[in-house]
Amino acid sequence: MHMMYSPDRIDPVILGHILGQHRELHAHLLAVRAALAEDEPPDAQRVGAVRTMLTGLRDYLKAHFEQEERGGFMEESIARMPRLSSAVQQVMADHPSLLAELDTLLETLAMCDTSLEAWDEATHGFAAFADHLIAHERNENAVVQEGYNEDLDLAD
Ligand SMILES: [Fe+2]
Ligand SMILES: [Fe+2]
Repeated sequence: MHMMYSPDRIDPVILGHILGQHRELHAHLLAVRAALAEDEPPDAQRVGAVRTMLTGLRDYLKAHFEQEERGGFMEESIARMPRLSSAVQQVMADHPSLLAELDTLLETLAMCDTSLEAWDEATHGFAAFADHLIAHERNENAVVQEGYNEDLDLAD
């Protein structure tokens, strides 16, 4: 990713760290998807393993969101490019709903014992969650990239 930084106004190390977490989130998503995709009936061990992965993902995501909200990158993006304001508001509003989606998924799997129906429900629920998270991170990357890349002519 090619980005131009203005070191007097932002901390590129922290920003790079957050963008790196987006790549790590993708790895989490792939791991959970692979665990859900196995073509055999679920047993208690597999349900437990997926629950553990989802809980880990939730913790990771919560910390990630908190860093983003604390980091000031979104505000800084707005300061640099005021037209990003509504995009930033939308991106930040995604955070609580994404966590809620994971909570719902964990409840589904908690109640599901090892029935195929519940496993399928969790698989579909996770696919929807993954799509939402990927779209969220894509929008967020776009906001940060636009906000911080001063050398591009981004006129609409
Ligand atoms: Fe985010
Ligand atoms: Fe993010």
